[in-house]
This record gives sequence, C-alpha cells and structure tokens, in this order.
Amino acid sequence: MSTIIVTGGAGFIGSHTCLLLLERGYEIFVIDSFCNSSAKSLEKVLMILLRFNNDLKDKLHLIKGDLKNISDIEKIFKNCLKQFKKVEGVIHFAGLKSVFDSVMDPLSYWENNVIGTINLLKVMEKYDCRTIVFSSSATVYKAKSDKLLTEGDFCEPVNPYGFTKLTIERILSDLNKNNDQWRIASLRYFNPVGAHESGLIGEDPTGKPNNIYPQITRVAIGKLPEIKIFGSDWPTHDGTGIRDYIHVIDLAEGHLCALEYLSNQKPQMLTINLGTGKGTSVLEFIKIFENTNKVKVPFSFHERRQGDNAFVVADNSLAKSILDWKPKRNIEDICRDGWKWQLQNPNGYSE
Ligand code: NAD
Ligand code: WQD
Repeated sequence: MSTIIVTGGAGFIGSHTCLLLLERGYEIFVIDSFCNSSAKSLEKVLMILLRFNNDLKDKLHLIKGDLKNISDIEKIFKNCLKQFKKVEGVIHFAGLKSVFDSVMDPLSYWENNVIGTINLLKVMEKYDCRTIVFSSSATVYKAKSDKLLTEGDFCEPVNPYGFTKLTIERILSDLNKNNDQWRIASLRYFNPVGAHESGLIGEDPTGKPNNIYPQITRVAIGKLPEIKIFGSDWPTHDGTGIRDYIHVIDLAEGHLCALEYLSNQKPQMLTINLGTGKGTSVLEFIKIFENTNKVKVPFSFHERRQGDNAFVVADNSLAKSILDWKPKRNIEDICRDGWKWQLQNPNGYSE
C-alpha cells in the first residue's frame, strides 16, 4: 500500500482525485487550510466509497494545515515516519486560483502559491520524498488564435496567478536539474468542469463564481438571473470564446496515470497538457447544457472580458503517448454530472 500526501485535497479537483486514489488502494494524508473548501467534500468521498461497501475511513487522514507554515507540512511527514509509512509522493493541488483576485491582491498569490510550494519542496527534500505531481495551468501559455497549444509553445502569462504557476514550474525544473533523483509531473489543466456522477461531490466556489460552468448551473437552478457572455465578436464560428472543457474525473484519472508513470520510470521532469483537444464555444456549451438537462439558461451579450482569448484548446497527444491517458467523458457527460451535483446540493457543501 503506497502512502501519498495530497495538498489541497478538500478542493474541487483534489476531492475527486482523493476518491480515485482511495479506490486504487492508496493511503492518503490530505493537508488543506480550507481557505476555499470544506472538510465535507472528503466526508462525501467516504460516503461514495461506502455505497460500494468500501469502508476506507482509516485510509484517509485529513489534517487542517497551511503550506505557508512549514511546521504544518513537517508534522505530516513526521507523523508518517512514526507510523513507518514512507511517503511515496505528493500531489500538490493547494493554491489560490482566481485570476481576478490575483490582480487585486498579488502579494497573497505569490506568498500562498510560491512560498507555500517552496516550503513543501524543502520538507520533501528533508524527508527524502522526491516525487511530485503539480497542478499547473493552461493559463501559462501565450494563446495562439486557432491553433492547439502544445507543451513546447511559448509561455507568457497575463496575470499574477499565471505567473505564480509558471514560476513554480521553473522552480521544479531547477530542482530537477540540480538533483537527478526528482520525479516531477507538471500538469497543465485546461478548463476543469463537471462533477462525480454520484452528484455527491462537485465544485463549490466561495462567493460569486467567475468561471462559466458554475455560473451555467446556477443560472439553470435560478440562483443567478442570466449568463453574461463576454464578447460576440471573437474570430470563432459563432463569435463566442472557445475553450477545452475537461471532465474533472478525466482530469483526476490523469493524476493517477502521472503518479504511476513517475513511480515506474527513471527520475525526470514531465510537463504535460491535460485537456480533451476539443473546443466548445460559450454558446455551444449553453445549448448542450439546455438540451442535455431540459432546462433554460438565459444569456445576454456583453463586452469582451480583459485578458480573454478567442481559442484555448490543448494538444493532448503527449498525455496520450506518455501517460497512456485519454479523456473518456464528453461535454454531455459534463453537463449531466454537473447539473446532478447542483440539483442535489443547491447550496454546495453548506447545509
Ligand atoms: P480549489 O480552490 O477548489 O482547491 C484548492 C485547495 O487548496 C482548497 O481546498 C484550498 O482550501 C487549498 N489551499 C489553498 N491554499 C492553501 C494553503 N496555503 N495551504 C493549504 N491548503 C491550501 O481549486 P481547484 O479547482 O481544485 O484547483 C486545484 C489546483 O489546480 C489549484 O492549484 C489551481 O490553481 C489548479 N488549477 C485549477 C484550474 C481550475 O479551473 N479549477 C485550472 C488550472 C489549474
Ligand atoms: C470560459 C469562457 C469567457 C464567464 C480560467 C482561468 C484559467 C483556468 C480556468 C485556473 C471564456 C466566457 C466566462 C462569464 C463568459 N483556471 N465567459 N461569461 O477564462 O478560460 O480560464 O479558468 O488555472 O487560468 O483563466 O475560464 O470559465 O472564466 O471562461 O462569457 O461570466 O467563458 O469569456 O470564453 P477561462 P472561464
């Protein structure tokens, strides 16, 4: 049984990945400050497993802690050592992720994302744990009109959030160059959406969501009046922005593939896109959501949003060839599963 530390495991992508890790037989130690999540997500993960008579509460350890405090991280490694559990690797989700907030409060973003990661890497070195899967983002790329983005493409973030991700990638690359024992996968996610098919776990953003998908589900359930579509004059087939929406379970599966690949191969650093390779426009997304779920999603057109691009879609051939991973769920699955989560949990994880 392998032991894995998951930072930010109570969050949207983290909770879905924890479910898959437990299903796959890992023992996991989650560290989360709950600054953008609730411990309930992981209670629900255990409930999903119990439905299949899989009582794994002894395999999931949840520790409230902040990566900004190095002692919080060290406590977990010490605890594992005391129990004679060797930490095989870390999946590092913990981070702040709002583009808008990062512009308003850049220092918090640099401190949380970069200092938090440096603390984590220092403790990993100390405890001789040199395998890490890191949540990077497609936001590091300089977008290219209508071409798929490949890992070798030029990177030029346009906001502090994106720069923190690119900086962490750079730190990881320097570590890899300095010490040939590191196994590193930097996974550049495109637009993670949807929810687990049970409807028990999903995305629960605090405050008003900025991303399109949680807004679509909230408009559909009547919590928001309409979607404001940012731009009707983009150089795309219907004038609205095109993105690569990836089901969160496909994304979670990508982490398991990356972790298993790293464990079985020589030390190295991988940088890999996790996307579907298929673009969907905002108008198409809304229409597919309406048709799949037989609901109405009113919208109106507005000015383009600053910093937006027409087309952001992954070339995912590297993930397919190296990790033997491919997305299995389509945009209808995304619409159906995310709607089930919204219907069953109109207030997210709060009562
Ligand atoms: P999320 O906010 O739901 O999850 C992040 C988790 O990290 C939360 O549970 C939060 O409480 C925790 N956290 C944040 N800072 C922490 C700290 N200093 N110490 C301990 N815990 C901390 O976000 P998510 O959508 O699950 O994203 C996970 C990761 O993936 C993030 O690093 C994000 O930047 C990255 N990412 C997300 C997207 C996306 O669109 N969701 C796209 C690309 C990359
Ligand atoms: C998608 C499309 C908008 C909201 C962001 C981050 C990126 C990554 C994923 C973390 C675009 C349009 C949106 C609205 C709209 N996160 N839209 N009305 O901007 O592709 O990516 O989340 O790493 O870093 O930048 O996602 O969901 O905000 O937008 O018309 O109210 O929906 O213009 O075309 P984006 P999004």
